[in-house]
Amino acid sequence: METKYYHIDKIDKSLDKLKEAGNIIQEGGLVAFPTETVYGLGGDALNKQSAQKIYKAKGRPSDNPLIVHIAKVENFYSLINIVDRPQIQSVANKLIKHFWPGPLTIILPKADIVPYEITGGLETVAIRMPQNEIALKLIENSGGYIAAPSANISGKPSPTRGSDVLEDLEGKIELVLEAGESCIGLESTILDLTVIPPCLLRPGYVTVEMLQEVIGEVEIDPTILEMNEPTRAKAPGMKYKHYAPNAELVIVSGTQKAVTAYINEQIKVLHLDEKRIGVIHALEEEQVYLADVTKYVGERQNQDSIANNLYAVLREFDRENVDMIFSESFDTKGIGQAIMNRLIKAAGHQIKYVIE
Ligand code: TXA
Ligand code: MG
Repeated sequence: METKYYHIDKIDKSLDKLKEAGNIIQEGGLVAFPTETVYGLGGDALNKQSAQKIYKAKGRPSDNPLIVHIAKVENFYSLINIVDRPQIQSVANKLIKHFWPGPLTIILPKADIVPYEITGGLETVAIRMPQNEIALKLIENSGGYIAAPSANISGKPSPTRGSDVLEDLEGKIELVLEAGESCIGLESTILDLTVIPPCLLRPGYVTVEMLQEVIGEVEIDPTILEMNEPTRAKAPGMKYKHYAPNAELVIVSGTQKAVTAYINEQIKVLHLDEKRIGVIHALEEEQVYLADVTKYVGERQNQDSIANNLYAVLREFDRENVDMIFSESFDTKGIGQAIMNRLIKAAGHQIKYVIE
């Protein structure tokens, strides 16, 4: 299949292309599109065959459910079944009012119209209303419900540019809409509303503190930030290796002095074996590392910049042909929880703690 690649700059000048994209989805095809978090791989959420195509294109296990994206609150109510759960209703309403459109996904009991192919066989459905205007227009043109995982090959870092999507999915999907870099760069926060208190399953730009301010108590799934291999995963996606670059990645945590000393010692040893080594750092002076390739991921004082660049840096390393990558560790406050959650998964939970 030939994959079309359209640049969308201004929405009002791209209405024809967005119409064409909407038709592709309505006819059962797949379109990758920008959101404020990462690029999504969209298909008709009410069509079983579209779900199967999504799993196939990504190489994703079909028990790992998809998020349904909507553009209007009224469409939310057709996807869920909470007739006898007024408490859930009131929590959902508060969240919608505060955070939609935006990077928050909520999980609720599903209505019959949502096929089990979308939910990985579960009785619940994950729903979000993205903030990106192109995404909203596309959803509207597609009939109102787009199922979309991140538009990467399963296990790779999520795409933050249309060109990343092409790299992974060219020839496998009908169309990629390119609109430059995603502004957040990490996937949405996922909150399960089927339990009391609601439970955070995936950290994101909307932090626990922000959620607590709006709905009160929120539980955090213990597998988040767990340093060992998760033993019991509630969001089915949490049990798979994720976001990983080709080379082995190890996070090194400790004081800056101890971290640089440890990494440089390791590099010296690995160089004896002629290994090519990369370092991911937030330290301004990159020349402190003896690595073959160093990549600056962002400023510690500006966590958004780290969230923004993380996946791009992981992807860039796949083009550098390195044998091993060391990464500095980052603060876990605020969006830092999401940053470290993704980095730890990318490293397959390999963290080295160093002391001076
Ligand atoms: O920001 C995002 O959420 C992006 C953009 C494209 O919107 N999408 C995204 O989708 O990250 P994906 O498929 O890569 O991640 C969805 C996660 C998976 O971990 C999946 O297991 C979980 O959501 N999930 C979906 N439905 C669920 C459900 N009913 N119960 C528990 N977890 C669910
Ligand atoms: Mg994903």
